[in-house]
Amino acid sequence: MSDVIPKVNSETVYGGDLVFDGGVRLCACADAEDVAAKFKTMLSRICPSVVFSGDGAVTVSIEKDALLPHEGYVIDINGDALTLIAANAAGWTYALVTLRQLLKPVGKSVACPCCRIEDAPRFKYRGLMLDEARNFFGEEEVKRLLDLMCLYKLNVLHWHLSDDQGYRVESEAFPLLTTVSTRRNDTQVGGVKSGKFMGTEASGYYTKSKIRAIVEYAKERNIVVVPELEMPSHCSAILAAYPKLSCTGEKKEVPTTFGTLHRSFCPGKRETYEFLDKLLDEWCELFPSKLFHIGADETAGSLWKNCPDCRKTVAENGLAGTHELLPLFVNRIADMLSAKGKLPMIWSDKLPRGVRKYVTYEAWLPLDHKAVAAEVSSGRKFVVAPYDRYYACQPYCMIPLKKTYEFEPTSITADKSDAGIFGVEMPMWTEWVYDRVKLDFNLFPRLCAFAETGWTAASRKSLHDFKRRWNAQKPLLDSFGVGYAKDKLTSPGAFARNKGTYIWKTVDQYDEVRRNKL
Ligand code: ACM
Ligand code: ZN
Repeated sequence: MSDVIPKVNSETVYGGDLVFDGGVRLCACADAEDVAAKFKTMLSRICPSVVFSGDGAVTVSIEKDALLPHEGYVIDINGDALTLIAANAAGWTYALVTLRQLLKPVGKSVACPCCRIEDAPRFKYRGLMLDEARNFFGEEEVKRLLDLMCLYKLNVLHWHLSDDQGYRVESEAFPLLTTVSTRRNDTQVGGVKSGKFMGTEASGYYTKSKIRAIVEYAKERNIVVVPELEMPSHCSAILAAYPKLSCTGEKKEVPTTFGTLHRSFCPGKRETYEFLDKLLDEWCELFPSKLFHIGADETAGSLWKNCPDCRKTVAENGLAGTHELLPLFVNRIADMLSAKGKLPMIWSDKLPRGVRKYVTYEAWLPLDHKAVAAEVSSGRKFVVAPYDRYYACQPYCMIPLKKTYEFEPTSITADKSDAGIFGVEMPMWTEWVYDRVKLDFNLFPRLCAFAETGWTAASRKSLHDFKRRWNAQKPLLDSFGVGYAKDKLTSPGAFARNKGTYIWKTVDQYDEVRRNKL
């Protein structure tokens, strides 16, 4: 069986190899010019001696079959013929990605095993969340991650671009967002109780043209960029520039520390909605994705109790108390987004009640399974991202690879069915992740394990077999310069040895990275 990750859903092994060691005759159907060009680039890069000519000994055909599922594909490799079939560009992209993993160097040429693969994804939404509000990585790093996401058939970059410690999108409507909210004086290191700081200013943002370029780059890899503009809380960076949007109007600088900070837009003020409406217009114009994430997690609702505007809104709307301002706020923003042609999404925390059913919930905390089933049966969609299985920011001694791999997304709902589970996501929060070394270490092999759950039928998964394929994957990631974690650190044994010594709140997680180099 092949070494492909995520594991393919159907595979027949014919025996023998097809070897690219001379001429290749490439035939592409109409619509497939782009994929043909990508195939040429890919093969030439890994086998520079290959020549594309009409009388090549190996024939590569790229064909269309409109009946294949969206993102599905067929690869047939037999004798001297390689055929890639899909219904659309998404399927061809994944056929190429699978082929890239099948190709192995043999001397100066490359070979792939003769086989037939028929493949299609389990879930529609297979995402990685990148928090660039806490740590700004920049265009080059994001594009590198998009390449790696595509390699493992992930199709959503959930881009967390606004939080307490930073706001990362150029704004013409609100220029202070660009000049004030995108920089902070310092950055805390070593955990929330450390009292230690980096000692340097941190800043960064994306111009509108850079964002458009990244969205386009993602699209070419079948990846949709879902932006996240956090509200009503986790918005201190915005409030540093526009303090009148908070309940008290108090001016404070962009925070330099991490942990849950208690600042919030005032959900009782008209100005809040006017500001967000205009800002959302700017974001909606930049991001063509239908889905739009508005955060809504860890709301600092206690601030609302003493605010005259909030109390007035409670009274005017007949609410039971300020705690009901969250669904009211989310619904008002959801209606705004819906009018702009978007489908809103929020972190579901503990399943807020009364939120419009078309708002997708991202489940990160443990939830009542029956309540989830009831939400699903009333039309709610869920993206599953449990903090104790899929949070890639957590150290391996807290979430060893096995825990990520073996998690079954439908376990969040009482009926255990795929219905209502829109997909899965691996969040990468970056309070304590300052560079590519830590990013790679925490993401790999985790992202591969997670990607397999998103793509492959549960009945075909096996941790033992995944580990075999992960080992086979290492030379490819080595060739890309990805600094993945060594097996001994991702094992449950490492968890047992270090239990309790690495907690998000107190320990500098770079300890694990240092040990990875030993
Ligand atoms: C979250 O981790 N606060 C969504
Ligand atoms: Zn208020």
